[in-house]
Amino acid sequence: MRKMIDVDFGSTRYDELVELRYKILLEPLGLKFLDSHRSNEMNYLHIGCIESLDDKLIGGLMLAPIDNSMVRLMEVCVENKYQREGVGKAMVQYAANRAKEVGYEKMVMHARLTAVNFYEKCGFRQEGDIFEEQGLTFVKMILDL
Ligand SMILES: CC(C)(COP(=O)(O)OP(=O)(O)OC[C@H]1O[C@@H](n2cnc3c(N)ncnc32)[C@H](O)[C@@H]1OP(=O)(O)O)[C@@H](O)C(=O)NCCC(=O)NCCS
Repeated sequence: MRKMIDVDFGSTRYDELVELRYKILLEPLGLKFLDSHRSNEMNYLHIGCIESLDDKLIGGLMLAPIDNSMVRLMEVCVENKYQREGVGKAMVQYAANRAKEVGYEKMVMHARLTAVNFYEKCGFRQEGDIFEEQGLTFVKMILDL
């Protein structure tokens, strides 16, 4: 069974989450993890998905506040062997509910072009132009909460 959890900044789970993010999002692109970025994440909401059988973290994401009504979804990742089993969608839905509870009205994100279909299946719509950052192509997407 899988369960969603809130992950405390600085906890052991948070370290696992940072490791998973590096493995799934950065390493395949030859990008380095910058430890200095961690302090920026202190006030973000971190969410993880746990496989209950072995207590392993198999997915994660974070929510960064933009203003009182808008939050940014970032760094969504699922462990390779658990991809395409509904974990990503369940995490995004959980995150949307958490954000709504806190009082946010909109969730925005920059989706890699390769993941746009996934976010559309999670209810996001494309908004604005396609743009490039660090050699990757992104699309701005938005979800009304
Ligand atoms: C993209 C990612 C987060 C999706 O999570 P996931 O658990 O594999 O996706 P789910 O199984 O919840 O998929 C939900 C739906 O989206 C579809 N989907 C998932 N990934 C997709 C992709 N890359 N392209 C197109 N459709 C995709 C699934 O087929 C499923 O469709 P369905 O509801 O009709 O069955 C995950 O595959 C991942 O970590 N990929 C590598 C890192 C990455 O690209 N992150 C996004 C950065 S913006």
